[in-house]
Amino acid sequence: MYVAQPIKWTDGGVVMLDQRRLPSEEISYTYTGYQDVAKAIREMVIRGAPAIGVAAAMGVAIGVQNSSAESLEELRAEFPVILDTLARTRPTAVDLFWALDRMKSRFAELSAQTSDLARIKQALVEEAKAVHLEKRATDEAIGRFGAEFMPRDGRVMTQCNAGALATGGIGTALGVIQVAVEQGKKLHVLVPETRPYLQGARLTAWELHRSNIPLTLITDNMVGHFLKTGNVSAIVTGADRIAANGDTANKIGTYQIAVLAREHDVPFYIAAPVSTFDLSIASGEQIPIEERSSAEVTQIQGMRIAPDVHAAHPAFDVTPSRYIAAIFTERGVAKAPYTESLKLLAASIPVPVI
Ligand code: MRU
Repeated sequence: MYVAQPIKWTDGGVVMLDQRRLPSEEISYTYTGYQDVAKAIREMVIRGAPAIGVAAAMGVAIGVQNSSAESLEELRAEFPVILDTLARTRPTAVDLFWALDRMKSRFAELSAQTSDLARIKQALVEEAKAVHLEKRATDEAIGRFGAEFMPRDGRVMTQCNAGALATGGIGTALGVIQVAVEQGKKLHVLVPETRPYLQGARLTAWELHRSNIPLTLITDNMVGHFLKTGNVSAIVTGADRIAANGDTANKIGTYQIAVLAREHDVPFYIAAPVSTFDLSIASGEQIPIEERSSAEVTQIQGMRIAPDVHAAHPAFDVTPSRYIAAIFTERGVAKAPYTESLKLLAASIPVPVI
């Protein structure tokens, strides 16, 4: 199995693989300032909900580590600025806010215990590393639960990129596929290219190809045709935010796939960690949808493919939970009624990190 490394903590700073350049080039950058980490998240050097969470946690750690504060009071004043800068990057993926909350709680805990800045800095670095480390265990557990639902021998479809690049572990939706293949299942993956950012073509196809998992790349407007004629046994995608009733935000285009899946009796599954739940909102209507620039639609990697007109670019859409056959998490599988099953999973015991 090939597991890409989108992010790592090093003594020299936070190292990120520039996902905007894949698959043509594998270039990494080292960030030493929290403002630069925030910019990298906003500009999609790193993307994918759980990976954005890891980046945010590391952004807080690097911000605190390189802070010039000379007392706990000064650091206490600076801390909310770091959190706020990182929070104002991408609004939809709730993992970002989950990770910031976790770093905030750890800081509150530490600053109640000690005013030793070196100790606080080191402990926050450890916390960010732990957030990252947990992703692998989390993804593997999601993979084991989800693999049961994959066919023994058949075609499955995904959307966007929910692989190692998107999580820092083995991936959520692609983790399910990877685990199923390791168990001996013969899967062929249909990969919609996922306009406008082409995460399917550039990233998912790249990860599957490197893992020697057979795939066919399709354009987004071929989805209906393949669901009608292509013997697709299941669809599995990731998620950016799951509301209390199971409505799920994921990459733009996911909703139409789910509706078409219902028409053609293909089960549509979500694979996501519990950190992607947002039980504070009742339904998907309350999920903020990121609007990205028009230029990302009218140009592909700097090349103009449309006249200089306004193009819409909602980066995500919401799939109503009635289209979702099950949600695979690291703590088990949720099914309708989601208002009950998600609440039970959120209250259950976290997966141990081995
Ligand atoms: O805009 P992106 O590339 O960050 O969007 C990513 C997705 O929509 C993924 O499917 C989602 O974050 C789940 S990643 C495991």
